[in-house]
Amino acid sequence: MNSLVLYYFSATGNSLVVAKDLASALGAAQLIPIAKAIHDNNDQSYEAVGIVYPVYMFGLPLIVAQFLKKIRLNPQAYIFSVATLGGAPGLAHTQARNILTGRGLELAAGFSLLMPGNYTPLYGAIAQEKQDEMFRKEKERIGIIAENIRDKKRGIMEEKPFLLNFLLHKLLYKGGISQVPLSGRNFWATDACIKCGLCAKVCPVENIVLADGRPKWLTHCQHCMACLQWCPVEAIQYKKSTIGRKRYHHPAVAAQDIIAQK
Ligand SMILES: Cc1cc2nc3c(=O)[nH]c(=O)nc-3n(C[C@H](O)[C@H](O)[C@H](O)COP(=O)(O)O)c2cc1C
Repeated sequence: MNSLVLYYFSATGNSLVVAKDLASALGAAQLIPIAKAIHDNNDQSYEAVGIVYPVYMFGLPLIVAQFLKKIRLNPQAYIFSVATLGGAPGLAHTQARNILTGRGLELAAGFSLLMPGNYTPLYGAIAQEKQDEMFRKEKERIGIIAENIRDKKRGIMEEKPFLLNFLLHKLLYKGGISQVPLSGRNFWATDACIKCGLCAKVCPVENIVLADGRPKWLTHCQHCMACLQWCPVEAIQYKKSTIGRKRYHHPAVAAQDIIAQK
């Protein structure tokens, strides 16, 4: 396919791997991080545009919603969204479609991919064998999704079962996402902190500053968990529930790949 761009956001690598795998399945795709693109004037000449991101609170991460509200696209472009998620997409694609429709653009299709969940405040990383099984299925699904994209299929919205996803989104998204920018105040570092500063480097939105080498969270957090997941000594916690929980990041992704997003 000519002239395809994939804009992506990723904190623990799932969406980055999906974006890379899609790019290689489709050939000649540009991969552009949303954390960077949100500050730039984007190129409007692409014939096909994909948005690849994790589902947060049964909807879009704030940064992705903001990006969709400002991105300038060729109205003729074939636009699709690809969500990675640990269990249920909620109405992430519908939300993306509504934002774009309001701007005279069409979201042609929304694809969902099950990946290991990374929301440590609620659960630890799943067992390695289960992760490996998900990674194997992801590679299979990418082929199918790529075929749909190549054929410029319209009308696919992978948000089933709809009633459950609708309820989850309606009940939990608004209240949850509105807390996100200030949620940084609930992160903290234990005495295990080695003052390496990696947490500040992996933060995709520069919401962490170092004071005497230790992290301090500001007020525009995305709640993405990058700081907590990439800490080499597991010193970073969110409230109390993350203590002792197994951390997660995609094994094929390095901290440097996350840092390179901005
Ligand atoms: C703040 C937050 C909220 C999340 N909410 C959901 C959710 O509503 N539904 C779901 O299936 N997974 C949810 N997850 C899990 C992620 O969507 C999933 O692990 C995703 O693949 C992570 O992508 P990444 O590695 O590219 O950051 C959430 C994760 C975070 C950090």
